[in-house]
Amino acid sequence: MAREELLDPFPQDGDEDVAPPASPTGGPDRTGGPPEDSAVDAVATLRPRTLAEFVGQTELKRRLSVILEAARRRGQAADHFLFAGPPGLGKTSLAGIVATEMGVTMHVTSGPALERPGDLAAILTKLGDGDVLFIDEIHRLSRSIEEVLYPAMEDFQLDIVLGKGPAARSIRLDLPRFCLVGATTRTGLITGPLRDRFGLVARLDYYEPEDLCSIVVRAAAILGADIDEAGAEEIAGRSRGTPRIANRLLRRVRDVAEVEGDGRIDASTARHGLEMFGIDALGLDKVDRSILASLCGRFGGGPVGLSTLAIAVAEPSETVEDVYEPYLIQQGLLIRTPRGRVATAAAWQHLGMVPPPSAMPGAADPSLFD
Ligand SMILES: Nc1ncnc2c1ncn2[C@@H]1O[C@H](COP(=O)(O)OP(=O)(O)OP(=O)(O)O)[C@@H](O)[C@H]1O
Ligand SMILES: [Mg+2]
Repeated sequence: MAREELLDPFPQDGDEDVAPPASPTGGPDRTGGPPEDSAVDAVATLRPRTLAEFVGQTELKRRLSVILEAARRRGQAADHFLFAGPPGLGKTSLAGIVATEMGVTMHVTSGPALERPGDLAAILTKLGDGDVLFIDEIHRLSRSIEEVLYPAMEDFQLDIVLGKGPAARSIRLDLPRFCLVGATTRTGLITGPLRDRFGLVARLDYYEPEDLCSIVVRAAAILGADIDEAGAEEIAGRSRGTPRIANRLLRRVRDVAEVEGDGRIDASTARHGLEMFGIDALGLDKVDRSILASLCGRFGGGPVGLSTLAIAVAEPSETVEDVYEPYLIQQGLLIRTPRGRVATAAAWQHLGMVPPPSAMPGAADPSLFD
């Protein structure tokens, strides 16, 4: 499986199957801290392992726990799950949690890593009873592979074609009952037939500041960082609703606190550290600001097409669309119109510029007039 090894997006989990921890419910008490200097280790241990450790997303957690509990009582594999949402909100973590809660092994692959139907067949045939198969970026599966997946998901059967041309014949293999967990940043790209075969399609939302605050406090305890409530709130408020960003900002602020102070993180250390790394009061970073700045500065506030905007900020359009825009839209700084992206009055004000009359609330729809 050399190719899987190369393409496995989760090096910290290893290429081998991830065995469940000895006790599915006993949360790891790592206050002592893992090796401090390894970012990979830190990321691996910050990942929540059980539903109880997973902060926020209350509705989703409740639904998931009911489905998992029912499957456990019946002694069956859990139904298939699809988790959708912007990067860093916990989709991969949830896949691991499903495996841990069910006490089964998780096998990891991703849409782009599966090139031929045979790649998927090889993984499916080595699954154990009830195992979790996690396919990240499932929207990038090719059609021919999706077609192998349909009977596998629905009837736990695998059709293999042997040979070519008139001599070709197909054989059918029984698969163990497994649980497919798919993750995608783009629900819109999932085909209808694939989507319909999941027992639960869950969309992860950006986290509330209180939840992010708990995530920061939890991560600080694991990392052994000394942080007070106000410091955690400051970091949480600038994390764009995203746990991964909250954890990253915490690590950077901790660095600053240790190098320039006594290691303690309070509101002012946090603010100082965040400013040093270019994170502003809304949590926007350099790229976010340069998107808004080129929109307002170069294109008069828009409308401007996505690809033009992406070129102006030297980022791939897909990254601008999937990673940066959702938060700018959610913050009311940018809107998508049929004619392109438009900066709102709030965006101009955030940049310290005076919005033109057309950007003021109540102005005519910019998609209709110039
Ligand atoms: N609900 C949560 N509670 C605590 N920590 C969380 C939570 N969700 C995510 N995290 C933290 O954020 C990190 C990123 O989460 P994860 O890798 O699961 O996101 P993802 O949705 O799979 O992102 P991507 O789309 O980029 O793959 C995790 O390592 C974990 O530390
Ligand atoms: Mg992921």
